[in-house]
Amino acid sequence: MNRAIIPGSFDPITLGHLDIIERSLKIFDEVIVCVLVNPDKKSLFSIDERKELIEKSITNISCNEKIIVDSHDGLLIDYMSKNDVNVIIKGLRAFSDFEYEIQMAFLNNKMAPNIETFFLMTTENLSYISSSSIKQIVKFGGKITGLVPSNIEQDIIRKILE
Ligand code: PNS
Repeated sequence: MNRAIIPGSFDPITLGHLDIIERSLKIFDEVIVCVLVNPDKKSLFSIDERKELIEKSITNISCNEKIIVDSHDGLLIDYMSKNDVNVIIKGLRAFSDFEYEIQMAFLNNKMAPNIETFFLMTTENLSYISSSSIKQIVKFGGKITGLVPSNIEQDIIRKILE
């Protein structure tokens, strides 16, 4: 089976992430959406909350039976070798993402040479969305409609304002 992993912080999942997940399903038979710890980022949502939001936001997309939602606290390559998956999919929003993502791709490939990273360009009209901007907008009273999956919008607002 042709499997791939979409790793990320997903703190929280946005419509940009969902776009990458949906488009990956057209290419791979099964996609693992895996919440990982990014030690460079201070997260707001717990790992379980992030997983729940992902589970809820994929309920309305087609072929969602091909998605596994999981989490891992450790190296991505260790999760991949344990779960027999060797393709990473990452979304690229802009050139600024590229520098960081290519370094990650080289590092992962250096540590585990059987691993390949596929990059998908984020759909243009979603390319300005980031989890950190979602948190900022809510914190300062702005609207996030059209930036996050509609069925988790209230969950996100509640958590950020609590
Ligand atoms: O959504 P993000 O924050 O860009 O995702 C980055 C993430 C979580 C995929 C990355 O930090 C990661 O893979 N973390 C797990 C630890 C690891 O394997 N790091 C790569 C080698 S430095």
